[in-house]
Amino acid sequence: MRLVAAELVQSREILPRQWLQSYHAPELATGTRAGQFVHVRTGDYSGLVLRRPFAVNTADAATGIVSIHFRSVGHGTEWLTRVRPGERLEMLGPLGRPFEIDPRNRHLLLVAGGLGMAGIRLLVDEALRDGRQVVLLFGAATTAEVYPSSLLPDEVEYVVATDDGSLGHRGLVTDLVPGYEAWADQAFACGPPTMLATLARLAASRGARLGVARLGRKRGGGRQPALGSPAARRRAFLQVAMEQTMGCAVGACLGCVVTGVEGPQRVCREGPVFAAEEIAWEPAG
Ligand code: FES
Repeated sequence: MRLVAAELVQSREILPRQWLQSYHAPELATGTRAGQFVHVRTGDYSGLVLRRPFAVNTADAATGIVSIHFRSVGHGTEWLTRVRPGERLEMLGPLGRPFEIDPRNRHLLLVAGGLGMAGIRLLVDEALRDGRQVVLLFGAATTAEVYPSSLLPDEVEYVVATDDGSLGHRGLVTDLVPGYEAWADQAFACGPPTMLATLARLAASRGARLGVARLGRKRGGGRQPALGSPAARRRAFLQVAMEQTMGCAVGACLGCVVTGVEGPQRVCREGPVFAAEEIAWEPAG
């Protein structure tokens, strides 16, 4: 974790009130992994200075560029949209625990809901860099909120669902998952809690639907890794990046706690990425 002065290189509104900003921050671009986040010091018009967490959207070690993708929803993020190229912001990071891909796995299913794309976008690059196949399922309310395919590598199979059916599948992005569960070796998701809970239920029952023989090999065998460890995430079929309001982002304020099967979990420290079975999901409503 480092505190760096990140220089804004480019800022653009890619969707209504959703911004993509690129910063020159070589110290972050080299060390950050998918799922991790930065805490950015922002100002607002009242003179208040606060830090806000943003998932690292992309990180390019060759250029030293990291990007963040966020929705302008309040004074701090509104202030951020007015930063100009050449200006520098204080960024603390990388923070949190990353996604862990099992090195044996070739077929990765990624699921993003709305701004959850920001939490999973870097995993696309990591997976493709290592020669894996990626299917990315994306859900939004309507066409106007669909993440542009032009911002994704060509190698990704990008499948969209919209609530109103204006683009792709009409309905929830989770409706699409059963069509890929036999193909996928491992799945990763970021989005609203209800979406993640549905995916966790699907993942828990996947083995019974497909059968062990269809899976081709048994996962794990031998001793179970400790919950919360990188090995536990690597072994999980589904990993989720939780989106949670944060205060300190370094584990001190307990403002980001979610309920885990072994007790409270701080999203900023024990997360934001968890194996799905580490979270005590609310029962389906
Ligand atoms: S934001 Fe303070 S403990 Fe997580």
